[in-house]
Amino acid sequence: MRKIAIANQRPGVGKTTTAINLAASFAFLGKRVLLVDADPQGGLTKSLLHDGYKGRTLYDVLQGISGVDDAAVPAEPRGFYIIPSSSELQGLEVELRSQKGWERRFKDAFKKLEGFDILLIDSPPTLSTMTVNSFVAANSVLIPLQCDYFALEGLPQLLKTIKLIKSSLNPMLEIEGFVITMYDRRFRFAPNIVSEIKKYFDEKVFETTIPRSVRFLESPVLGKPLLSFAPDSKGARRYVDLAREMMGKWEAVL
Ligand SMILES: Nc1ncnc2c1ncn2[C@@H]1O[C@H](COP(=O)(O)OP(=O)(O)OP(=O)(O)O)[C@@H](O)[C@H]1O
Ligand SMILES: [Mg+2]
Repeated sequence: MRKIAIANQRPGVGKTTTAINLAASFAFLGKRVLLVDADPQGGLTKSLLHDGYKGRTLYDVLQGISGVDDAAVPAEPRGFYIIPSSSELQGLEVELRSQKGWERRFKDAFKKLEGFDILLIDSPPTLSTMTVNSFVAANSVLIPLQCDYFALEGLPQLLKTIKLIKSSLNPMLEIEGFVITMYDRRFRFAPNIVSEIKKYFDEKVFETTIPRSVRFLESPVLGKPLLSFAPDSKGARRYVDLAREMMGKWEAVL
């Protein structure tokens, strides 16, 4: 089973958008995917379930009040499930810090996952309790980079954290890769930014880039991934390409 944390502490680079549309793409390709909203802000949850969701959440799972199965909500397409976030998670972040083994809460909660092929975790734009927990629970980290002048901003800190967790709590942890988001052809320096990113991270940069598209803004309004309401849009197709590219790399290793 693949367990992938999606992270970058720079805000607004497309982590949540990638989490939703990549998860939907994996499901479209026949995988069973569980997507966890580990951001107390709950952007992912609000995008897919809207405000006022009353069911079980990640908080309940981490507190042992609910099992993963009870908290998992089906999304579109078939095979895609989410574990919602809630504002209670904010308090838990602080509370956990004083407890022994706080870094492993996530790992323990999602250890026995039957019936899923892929676990994706959408992390908050911080290197906080939830992010550290997701790095301990995951096998790899997928890092979205927004295609602008600040693409690499704050990255050394993120890479240092990943290295630290790998050398201590999770020796399995790898970098899944870097995905360039919000690529805009009208921005004449976009190709320069892509080559700069490739200069640093080489084959770890996915060939598939995600275009900037206003269609992504429709997604939370409709409460669905792009693939569900605009399957032929460039944005939806690129996330399917990304899912295929990732799966291709996994098969190459086997
Ligand atoms: N490819 C894209 N084209 C156009 N808009 C996009 C694209 N990807 C994301 N956005 C928009 O950019 C904003 C930030 O995206 P998103 O919420 O996915 O980022 P994030 O990294 O999860 O943010 P945060 O750090 O706050 O959690 C949202 O309004 C989203 O709709
Ligand atoms: Mg987000």
